[in-house]
Amino acid sequence: MNILVIGSGGREHALAWKLKQSPGADRIFCAPGNAGTPEVGENVAIPANDFPALVRFAKENNIGLTVVGPDDPLAGGIVDFFEAEGLRIFGPSKSAAQLESSKIFAKELMRKNGIPTARGAIFQEAAAAVAFLRESRFPIVIKADGLALGKGVIVAKDVAEGCAAVEAMMKERRFGDAGKRILIEECLTGSECSLHVLVDGKSYRMLATARDHKRAHDGDTGPNTGGMGALSPADNFSAELQARFDDAVMRPLLQGLNSAGVKFRGLLFPGLMITSEGPRVLEFNCRFGDPETQVILPRLKSDLLALFEATIDGTLDRTAIEWDERAAVTVVLASGGYPGKYEVGKPISGLDTARPQAVHIFHAGTREESGAVVTAGGRVLAVTALGETVAAARTAAYEAASQIHFEGCHYRRDIALGAVGAKIVTH
Ligand code: AMP
Ligand code: GLY
Repeated sequence: MNILVIGSGGREHALAWKLKQSPGADRIFCAPGNAGTPEVGENVAIPANDFPALVRFAKENNIGLTVVGPDDPLAGGIVDFFEAEGLRIFGPSKSAAQLESSKIFAKELMRKNGIPTARGAIFQEAAAAVAFLRESRFPIVIKADGLALGKGVIVAKDVAEGCAAVEAMMKERRFGDAGKRILIEECLTGSECSLHVLVDGKSYRMLATARDHKRAHDGDTGPNTGGMGALSPADNFSAELQARFDDAVMRPLLQGLNSAGVKFRGLLFPGLMITSEGPRVLEFNCRFGDPETQVILPRLKSDLLALFEATIDGTLDRTAIEWDERAAVTVVLASGGYPGKYEVGKPISGLDTARPQAVHIFHAGTREESGAVVTAGGRVLAVTALGETVAAARTAAYEAASQIHFEGCHYRRDIALGAVGAKIVTH
């Protein structure tokens, strides 16, 4: 079967790489892909939001399955668009993708179905939000309702910061219509964990757990980023937390979606805060995480294509998923200045160095220019290594990262450091 992967990041390189290993896969296409994706497929110069051009390409190239990486096309209804044309596509419909594209939709669904999450209030008027802030305790979390390139969440430490966030979102419309409505919620404390769940509308299968490292600098300091590195399995998750997640989150969520007439088929990625009172849902994403995908998929022994097919066909209950028992660590190499302003077009050296089998280099913000690979984004590469221990995986990942060079390259030196020596019991 020919497969089309939509998107251009490290997540999409990892998805294409894993799908290529499937016995059912023939040609893999990436739209638009990056300088790494030609290792496993063919790049097609169609942007992820040009649905008619993507449909045309899928029809002309006998694509048996399209896999959507990023949230934007899902929120824009790419799945409905493809299905209306009789094409098979992996991902939630536009109405199901509201779980990510509207934080208020997700919050109301969670409330209605008793799913543990931060207590919050919804506002449509800036004045009411400001009045609420004046009565609140801090820190407090302010969220734009819609998609805002991962920048729509502000943790305000006092009234002034809170009011500035409300002003930026609701009055200045810094995130456009995403800030038409906002959510103000209690600030939870604990440790975060990324769960990836294949959902077929009726049943679900957990993928391996992971932990992201969102802050730009060592010691969880500096500004928030899309993710500077990851670890799998998560060292803060357990069989007991899994049971609580099944009972308190997944069951009521599927029931709640069904009674709302929404069928979720695709990958659900709940971000959890593990608090002293148990797991709380911070957010639902409706697509694979980045860099979580780059740390999870190298541990997957099963056929990803078959799992995607089972998700679409509603037969996940008949599947079993096998995992490599080793730990995986992913280190993200970023452009100088990221997540702020950065330059692109810097030549990258050291990509051709011979590497152990347990090391994978996934491209993110890269492009080819006159036969050379140059930087083309904030997060440039994701270096993943497997190891018998977290310490071994870290050593291998950092060894590989140290062989790659480009002007301004920076990466965190402490990815998964907190998990070294931790007893890791689950997948
Ligand atoms: P979101 O876009 O909802 O995923 O939020 C992005 C990040 O903001 C999360 O990964 C958390 O680090 C942080 N965050 C979101 N909601 C809360 C909350 N209620 N309490 C504390 N931190 C939060
Ligand atoms: N790494 C977090 C995300 O993909 O949303």
